[in-house]
Amino acid sequence: MNRLLAPSLLSADFLNLEKEIDMINASEADWFHLDIMDGVFVPNISFGLPVVDAIKRKAKKPLDVHLMIVEPDRYVDAFRNAGADILSVQYEACTHLHRVLQQIRNAGMKAGVVLNPHTPVLLLTDILAYADLVLVMSVNPGFGGQKFIPETFNKIVELRSMIDKRGLEVLIEVDGGVNISNANQLYKAGADVLVAGNAVFKSENPTETIRNLKKIA
Ligand code: DX5
Ligand code: ZN
Repeated sequence: MNRLLAPSLLSADFLNLEKEIDMINASEADWFHLDIMDGVFVPNISFGLPVVDAIKRKAKKPLDVHLMIVEPDRYVDAFRNAGADILSVQYEACTHLHRVLQQIRNAGMKAGVVLNPHTPVLLLTDILAYADLVLVMSVNPGFGGQKFIPETFNKIVELRSMIDKRGLEVLIEVDGGVNISNANQLYKAGADVLVAGNAVFKSENPTETIRNLKKIA
């Protein structure tokens, strides 16, 4: 089983982004999690393509890009060109999810599907084989620093069993309110990758926090 950690730069100090990227590069973290928000799918706007492109030039680890935008199919090539390695789209934003996931794979990236807290994992039955990753939101997307929704545990367990029963190799990623006190339980429930924003960047010593989050892994 994988136990990966993807710090979310949404909680980083944007005035010192280069320093924050170097910190992640030198740490035990596995991926960079980048949150793209359009102010339509979610009630917040974060950053876009030029920032992803700049991060790519400095980052020594894969870029895990989480699109919280409507019509994500229009931006697949643009995010590939900006340097995304993994590109995840929200289930709720895709009328033609089957096509979008193949578009992402054909562009040379790993394809992810994101489920909002209200979206049942069973809805993935017919699409699971076309995904490399399922990102389970454990808060309502849009902001860092929110409280973890405990029902997420059942979703992870259910999804793990769906994936294992079919012998698929889809990764389960969990995003929102992840911290040192729930991380171990989340890995045990079946998560492969944990995203952590506030828990890492708002801590006194982010490198140490990453080490501690990885240690329980
Ligand atoms: C929320 C984003 C998350 C966010 C997580 O919409 O998708 O990736 O940065 O932040 P924390 O870990 O602070 O909940
Ligand atoms: Zn995210």
